[in-house]
Amino acid sequence: MRKFERAGIDFVMLEDSTALTDIYGGTFESELKWTPRAPKHDPMALASRLAYETEKIGIVVTASTSFYPPFLLTRLLSTLDHLSHGRIGWNIVTSTGDRAAQNFGHDTLPVHDERYEIAEEFVDVANALWASWDVDAASPIHPGLESYVDHTKVRTIDHAGKHFKVRGPLNTLPSPQGKPVICQAGASASGIDLAARVADLVVSAPKGRAAMRTYRDTIRSRAAGFGRNPDDVKVLYMVTPILGETEKDARRRAERYYEPTDAAIARRLIMLSGDIDFSRFDVDKPIPDDLHTEGSTSILENLRTWAAGRTIRETVAAERTESLRLVGTPASVADEMESVIEEVGGDGFLFFGGGGGVLNRRYVDDVCDGLMPELRRRGVAGTGFRGQSLREHLAGAR
Ligand SMILES: Cc1cc2nc3c(=O)[nH]c(=O)nc-3n(C[C@H](O)[C@H](O)[C@H](O)COP(=O)(O)O)c2cc1C
Repeated sequence: MRKFERAGIDFVMLEDSTALTDIYGGTFESELKWTPRAPKHDPMALASRLAYETEKIGIVVTASTSFYPPFLLTRLLSTLDHLSHGRIGWNIVTSTGDRAAQNFGHDTLPVHDERYEIAEEFVDVANALWASWDVDAASPIHPGLESYVDHTKVRTIDHAGKHFKVRGPLNTLPSPQGKPVICQAGASASGIDLAARVADLVVSAPKGRAAMRTYRDTIRSRAAGFGRNPDDVKVLYMVTPILGETEKDARRRAERYYEPTDAAIARRLIMLSGDIDFSRFDVDKPIPDDLHTEGSTSILENLRTWAAGRTIRETVAAERTESLRLVGTPASVADEMESVIEEVGGDGFLFFGGGGGVLNRRYVDDVCDGLMPELRRRGVAGTGFRGQSLREHLAGAR
């Protein structure tokens, strides 16, 4: 984490899920053996420690609107925002797969669009709770006052909606950032709507320059439709740069990284098994036409775009999860990143973990010691933290 901070990386995002799944093949073996998704400790406790260990870098935690009670999460995020002096962000997810629901007293998750309907209301409640204290309600200096909080600046929210009933107010002090930075990764129509309406930061993985531009245009025009300034919604694209000392070295590494070995294909199919058990299918036959998911609809759609005329094995080998394949020396990859932002627009990139999604030391060194200095030299990233809070830092990005 300190290394990321020294390298000038703006924030880290701690991904999360709330279930150990056994969808692929009906056992936990594949999930535990092959994916970086498990074991997984709670990001909230981790964020608290990371805030203590660092000074400037933003910390974005993931929390699901399908399971947390809004009051509990809002209070938790406010507390973390205090502990980090205003560096917390919340990655809003709605969860995928019934295994998560089964840890919270339900047999199944609500269907995809209903989850987003719940998320919309959840965020409205959270925003109302964060606004239930005026920013100047508490004062460290209070001559003549019995309490250092002015009770007239604190009020109930009295929310009674379709999914939540919350009286409020929050019982924490106002969040140092007003409210944590809101982050979202919606890719479906309902996901994009939520992101455009409420997010400060959108992390995305549209494939290729044209799709990246379309995605960003869609987010910006939807945000304007919600009465927002589109520049207030920062759009980042997901990439996993593969770096080498020479172009040839990088290409060799990329060949290994993308090699469609049986293990690599199996690993991807495990990751795709949100509520569909991909072990049931013959990998040398096409993806069945009638597959339906109430998990990540956009992930299945993406898979289908690569599937025409291909077997499952060939589809997975051809499929891309990141927005662009960045392969080269730190200097050539930095050039490409700069040209992508100039041509496509957008506010930056989210580096996704290296081999198999795992953050190994080599990948971290490559990015922090190789790529970031090149980006800094071009003045496009890592040029210093603007302001104390993550919100101020992001606002200064444009
Ligand atoms: C960069 C990135 C990070 C994500 N992190 C998480 C996560 O930590 N937990 C989770 O349940 N979903 C995560 N997702 C999934 C999204 O929340 C979302 O479900 C997905 O992009 C599909 O969009 P949709 O829900 O609109 O269909 C992530 C997606 C992206 C692109």
